[in-house]
Amino acid sequence: MLPQWQSLFAPRPLAARAMRLSLPELAAPVWFAPVGSSDLATVSPTQLLTQAESLRADAFRFGQPRENFTLGRLAGKLALLALFDEASALGRSRPLSPDESEGEDLGQKLRLFEVMNGENGEPVVMAPVDCGFSLSLSHVNGRGVAVAFAAGARIGLDMELIDPKRAETVRKGVPLSKEEESWLKQTALPEAAALLLLWAAREALSKALGSGLACKWESLALREIRSTGKTHFSGNFSHHPSFHCVSWVGPDAVLSLAFGRGERAATSVTSLL
Ligand SMILES: CC(C)(COP(=O)(O)OP(=O)(O)OC[C@H]1O[C@@H](n2cnc3c(N)ncnc32)[C@H](O)[C@@H]1OP(=O)(O)O)[C@@H](O)C(=O)NCCC(=O)NCCS
Repeated sequence: MLPQWQSLFAPRPLAARAMRLSLPELAAPVWFAPVGSSDLATVSPTQLLTQAESLRADAFRFGQPRENFTLGRLAGKLALLALFDEASALGRSRPLSPDESEGEDLGQKLRLFEVMNGENGEPVVMAPVDCGFSLSLSHVNGRGVAVAFAAGARIGLDMELIDPKRAETVRKGVPLSKEEESWLKQTALPEAAALLLLWAAREALSKALGSGLACKWESLALREIRSTGKTHFSGNFSHHPSFHCVSWVGPDAVLSLAFGRGERAATSVTSLL
């Protein structure tokens, strides 16, 4: 049973924000975390970013891109922390956050994870030691979301704001498959949300594959989209039959998660302490 959008984005305390998603087609659960600008009042960029991450943030001199970068790191590290705690409970590592502390205490734990980028831009989780975890993240206009999972799984996450101008860009700039066109005609979703759902699913796949959008966009097309609830959808991809996606449509944004079906992720976890 997929959670509702409201429960995905429920305003819980920051340290307890991550939630475990068990999706029917995914072999191992993932940890999902959403954050927003106001969370930076609880844990500031200097508390949560490592030195190397702060240097990356400094490359964005000011404004929204810099904040978005920080929010992506915050969401990612909250999800990693929750995954790490779960592994601890299973006895695969020592516990990292037995309490729900906020502020500097939480910042200290978050700084144990360093999230840098690989040569294609993909997030790379670096910790004092190899913790065996991976991440996918997305950030836009003062919001960040991330999923953390055991390294080896191929999972990508994307969030799009439902913005008519962006939807128009997708409409004009992205050649859609005939299956996508026919779904657009019959879905009850407003057109902008539907177009952005298609685009978010494609971007999520591009992240799961590790290529990002530096590939032929037709190769990311959806073959089938099904409604699995009022605001839930699931789908398959034309050229990547072993991948599956689930999408949520919220009041002002769309979220898509793409993943290789039935993959068994590696489960090795090393102590960070
Ligand atoms: C990766 C990409 C799909 C991100 O999409 P976006 O809507 O701009 O941004 P999002 O916030 O959703 O995602 C950004 C995150 O995706 C992740 N990411 C970037 N490249 C990635 C890749 N190849 N594989 C997996 N994840 C990737 C990063 O973590 C990045 O955040 P960070 O830089 O703060 O670490 C897109 O920027 C891309 O492919 N860029 C490559 C260059 C390119 O081909 N550009 C043409 C676009 S018109």
